[in-house]
Amino acid sequence: MNMPTPTSEAAAAAALPGSLAPPGLPDVAGLTQLASAFFAMLPGETMAAALPGLAQRAPSLTAAQPPASLPGPVPLPTSLPVGHPAPPPAAVPPVTVAATGAGVGPVSSAPVAASAAPFYFLDEAGAGLRAAGGRDGLDDLDGLAAAASAPAVLPAQSFGLPGESELQALLRSLTAPGPTHADGPYYFVDAPAPVPALAPLAAPAFDVQAVRRDFPILAERVNGRPLVWFDNAATTQKPQAVIDRLAYFYAHENSNIHRAAHELAARATEAYEQARRTVAGFLGAGSPDEIVFVRGATEAINLVAQSWGRQEIGEGDEIIVSLLEHHANIVPWQRLAAEKGAKLRVIPVDDDGQIRLDEYARLLNPRTKLVAVTQVSNALGTIVPVADVVRLGHAAGARVLIDGAQAVSHLRVDVQALDADFYVFSGHKIFGPTGIGALYGKPELLAAMPPWQGGGNMIADVSFEQIRYQDAPARFEAGTGNIADAVGLGAALDYVQRLGLERIAQYEHELLVYASAGLRTVPGLRLIGTAPDKASVVSFVLAGYRSDEVGTALNREGIAVRSGHHCAQPILRRFGLETSVRPSLAFYNTREEVDRMIRVLQQLARERRV
Ligand code: ALA
Repeated sequence: MNMPTPTSEAAAAAALPGSLAPPGLPDVAGLTQLASAFFAMLPGETMAAALPGLAQRAPSLTAAQPPASLPGPVPLPTSLPVGHPAPPPAAVPPVTVAATGAGVGPVSSAPVAASAAPFYFLDEAGAGLRAAGGRDGLDDLDGLAAAASAPAVLPAQSFGLPGESELQALLRSLTAPGPTHADGPYYFVDAPAPVPALAPLAAPAFDVQAVRRDFPILAERVNGRPLVWFDNAATTQKPQAVIDRLAYFYAHENSNIHRAAHELAARATEAYEQARRTVAGFLGAGSPDEIVFVRGATEAINLVAQSWGRQEIGEGDEIIVSLLEHHANIVPWQRLAAEKGAKLRVIPVDDDGQIRLDEYARLLNPRTKLVAVTQVSNALGTIVPVADVVRLGHAAGARVLIDGAQAVSHLRVDVQALDADFYVFSGHKIFGPTGIGALYGKPELLAAMPPWQGGGNMIADVSFEQIRYQDAPARFEAGTGNIADAVGLGAALDYVQRLGLERIAQYEHELLVYASAGLRTVPGLRLIGTAPDKASVVSFVLAGYRSDEVGTALNREGIAVRSGHHCAQPILRRFGLETSVRPSLAFYNTREEVDRMIRVLQQLARERRV
């Protein structure tokens, strides 16, 4: 990771918790999973009854401390399946108190490794699992829990010693050979038995109702009807795992990054860089250094145009885009071409909305410096054969940028297998927060590209005579970035990957076929974009109605679609249109929702003005 050159402060911060885990400990997510179940099922009365000594000792934990006041959500462990209902409380054995109090019994003196059951611990306020304060702590704590395989005693006072992180305190407690916690008090509870293993997701059929429960907004009502969210190409809804991760960040980790020696800077930096690793893994990049955080796909394309493009594109050079492109993959290249005296050339599409590869091959020539195409059309849903686009572009000596904004939530992407030079996407289109996205670039390209914005974080050294820049990715991340939302994006990608992109693609494909067939039954409805290979989007116009009238009629029934030009005017004009109605599907949509939409459209068709 090419991080900014560490200052002594930053070096000290980097040396905080993550480096403290004893070597060789397994990374087990079981503790967090157990803890989630524990806190989910533990009513305040149970807590109070179970911890009489605790209530006495720590007045803040009184009889009815509700679970809601327990610490912030623990990040969803990667082993926790998604799309399943929470295990019923009855399935989890009751929690019992093993011991409380300063120096009580065998608990206080037992070496950690000598005992034999998993543990939980409570902090002084009785607030529950502290999970060593997040950051690396969760993983390390999980590992410790498994490795120690022991009930552990954690004196509340051990947290927050000057200069010590929670994880450091925890590790100190766990690895101490004898009774080092004479100060107590100890708040100690036995762990509940493990939550019964939930069925792995790979085998069973896709359970859309279970998945829907992960998205709280889907329980909203609009105009008295249950919300139908068919505007996924504009933005997707967020699972609870993402909402929780954002809340956890602000409750436990919030700080600026890369800059200070304090604990929270270390936590925030680690969370941010972990998100970068997650994005890299999700895209199949060779290294996290190949991932630049940006506001979204639009900013990523502008970054490439302003940095790589201004350096590499000259007078008479050619840039190829397709007629399917979103304005974000047209305007930056038009501007660059105008500035440099270069030429923008456009791959046409056929009547089904598929790009003409034969025409593309004819457009390529030695002056072609860049090909920039979308992987999935936001207006029509056409899946573009980007592997062919890359192969042909490279054969002509061009670089190829793929706009994955509409693809990543529907298709598995492997940028190395694809051999893309640049790949961009937006977090909010894949169940993550708005205002965060990623640019992947081949390392040799990023290394040769100049910065596009100047400021903090992207420099190695500044004087009034000279500036030295950081390597990628920091070189392209001037100023304080969208730290929390990058972390939220990591959680979204984890969520999607646990659900499985292949299962998502299969379910969505069946739903798209179902929706397309249903729409064809509506008299006077014309589908726009009928390529055999499509994802998510069914664009249409309805005779006798403007697109916004259809959108308004659907909204009256609680159904959200986009109606308009979808920021893709050239492709709509190819079909003689200025606007269309665009339902766009995600894996949490259902056939029943499609049926509701079709019923509204059929009613409109019956009432059509002549
Ligand atoms: N690009 C987004 C869309 O297609 C806004 O609706």
